[in-house]
Amino acid sequence: MSSFAEISALVLAAGKGTRMHSEKPKVLQTLLGSPMLAYVLAAARPIFDDSILIVTGHAADQVEKAFPDCRFTRQTGQLGTGHAVLTALPELEKTGRSHVFVINGDVPLVTPAIIKGFLERAEKYDIAFATIHLPDPGPYGRVVRSQGVVNGIVEARDFDPQLHGEPTGEVNAGLYLLSLAAARKLLPKLRNSNKSGEYYLTDLVSLAFEAGHDVAGIACGEDEALLGVNSPLELAEAENTLAERTAAQLLQEGVIVHGPQFLRASPFARIEPGAELFAPLEIRGRTSIAAGAKVGPYCQIVDSEIAASAEVRPFCHLENAVVGKSAIVGPYTRLRPGAKLEQEAHAGNFVELKKATLGRGAKANHLTYLGDAEIGAGTNIGAGTITCNYDGKNKFRTSIGENAFIGSNTALVAPVEVGEGALVGAGSVITRDVPAHDLAIARARQTNLPGRKK
Ligand code: UD1
Ligand code: CA
Repeated sequence: MSSFAEISALVLAAGKGTRMHSEKPKVLQTLLGSPMLAYVLAAARPIFDDSILIVTGHAADQVEKAFPDCRFTRQTGQLGTGHAVLTALPELEKTGRSHVFVINGDVPLVTPAIIKGFLERAEKYDIAFATIHLPDPGPYGRVVRSQGVVNGIVEARDFDPQLHGEPTGEVNAGLYLLSLAAARKLLPKLRNSNKSGEYYLTDLVSLAFEAGHDVAGIACGEDEALLGVNSPLELAEAENTLAERTAAQLLQEGVIVHGPQFLRASPFARIEPGAELFAPLEIRGRTSIAAGAKVGPYCQIVDSEIAASAEVRPFCHLENAVVGKSAIVGPYTRLRPGAKLEQEAHAGNFVELKKATLGRGAKANHLTYLGDAEIGAGTNIGAGTITCNYDGKNKFRTSIGENAFIGSNTALVAPVEVGEGALVGAGSVITRDVPAHDLAIARARQTNLPGRKK
């Protein structure tokens, strides 16, 4: 897609996001489980590959840690969007590219097609920016034109109808294309003599206009997709839009969705046509669900893999888990990171797995905790079985061979191994290895004392 070899990209992500009323930096606030910034980057990546630079500042460490594969430049003191770009200028010069595409880090609904469409129309100008039309321009920068020609952008707080004319509803969307030649010349001329005391990137437009540069405000016609997110309300609205958009897309592609209005599926998930989803349901992160798999309602699936014909029944929580072909999970199962069910394995109600594998056709159907464990194919884990994997300091492994049978209410004190085909009597506390095909019973023998009552 990249025909824009002379353009690098800069994402502004240094602001605090005061209007979110949150300790968390705004660009890390999540939509459908992924941070806002991830969406902006996902929209820019197909066009700019690795030429994307991110300006961080407020809680820079946190933001940078969340995106380990990205390049950053730091803005010390958040003195405004103009100051942010000025700070990045030396890094932008190093790219050797003639233009830079600048985008606010708080427009998570933007798409590659919108960016591409904007760039195609913006390329011939020295300074161009994307505009949208809103019935209520609210806190957005207002575009001021005379006889159709852009004179400048006036920020909401500084807007005065007496000076600037009646607002038209055309506002700045926070996407810009700047020639470095113009930016290099004009950025140092920005002043902070406005109501916010900030160096506005938007003032570049009037400076450029006055200096006789070719300036353009480009209406993108994708108003909803270019809304900024500044408050909890706007975050919720953007998240709803994204969920609707993703559900519509999945239906379009041939995923069977029951109750699509209640599906909260991340666009980063890969769900194959022919998979069947029953909402309400949350699917987050890099989850993949194969054709023929079914996921029941009231589940939260995070970064997990669900293979063909597998079934996840209602009320399950999966995180970083793998559910193999034709395996059955739930209802009420918790699969924690490193849980893996091989083909046709079952994990039933109130069963928790962590760093544990259930081999092919193995079953743990009721009330069980399997942590740091390997369960062989065909083995049956009785109700109430617990791996005691933690001694307060260290974690130890439990390994159970194929076709073994663990009686109900067994405690397996790790490290311990149960051999292939072995049988453990119900209620046992297993502290020593059980050889293959042995029967182990580790509990007090029952005594019946007659005549308790006549
Ligand atoms: C900005 C625009 C406004 C536009 C709107 C579109 C300015 C002055 N105003 O307003 O015209 O209509 O976006 O959504 O640019 N940031 C930094 N460093 C700073 C300040 C901000 O990196 O010193 C980053 C923020 O993290 C954010 C982006 O720049 O991602 C925009 O900042 P924000 O405060 O949200 O600007 P708006 O008031 O929304
Ligand atoms: Ca904003």
